[in-house]
Amino acid sequence: MADLDTTRVVEVLNRILEAELAGVVRYTHYSFLVFGYNRIPIIAWLRDQATESLTHAQQAGEMITHLGAYPSLAIGPLLDSHQLDIGAILRESLATEGKALALYRELLGLVEGRSVMLEEYARQMIYTEEQHAGEVDKMLRKPGNLAAFNPVL
Ligand SMILES: [Fe+2]
Repeated sequence: MADLDTTRVVEVLNRILEAELAGVVRYTHYSFLVFGYNRIPIIAWLRDQATESLTHAQQAGEMITHLGAYPSLAIGPLLDSHQLDIGAILRESLATEGKALALYRELLGLVEGRSVMLEEYARQMIYTEEQHAGEVDKMLRKPGNLAAFNPVL
């Protein structure tokens, strides 16, 4: 197996950790801002996403210490766009999830053929994040509209 560039891998893992921690804060924040008849299931879904982001942050942190490196205590960028509309919240979520997905793809490029464990981890996360983005995309479609909202993901 080819050599692993541990420094670059840790750098990407730290960016993943920060992005996932920002997701915890972002989804928790959104969950306070949902009003109307459907608020209870939407709040439950947003809080599930916050919990999932925390799990993903913990997995990234464990990978960092597995490599003998120090996990970042920073958090990814958080933009308060004062969105109260569920469509806008979901579009914002889709855009930020797309950035996290790009980081996992960058990680896969660095570890492919170099570490079975990290390669499996990166592929599993890409699978999970793509599935999640697809779920949000379906929520953004108008009822009866089959075409993907954002087919570029
Ligand atoms: Fe995630």
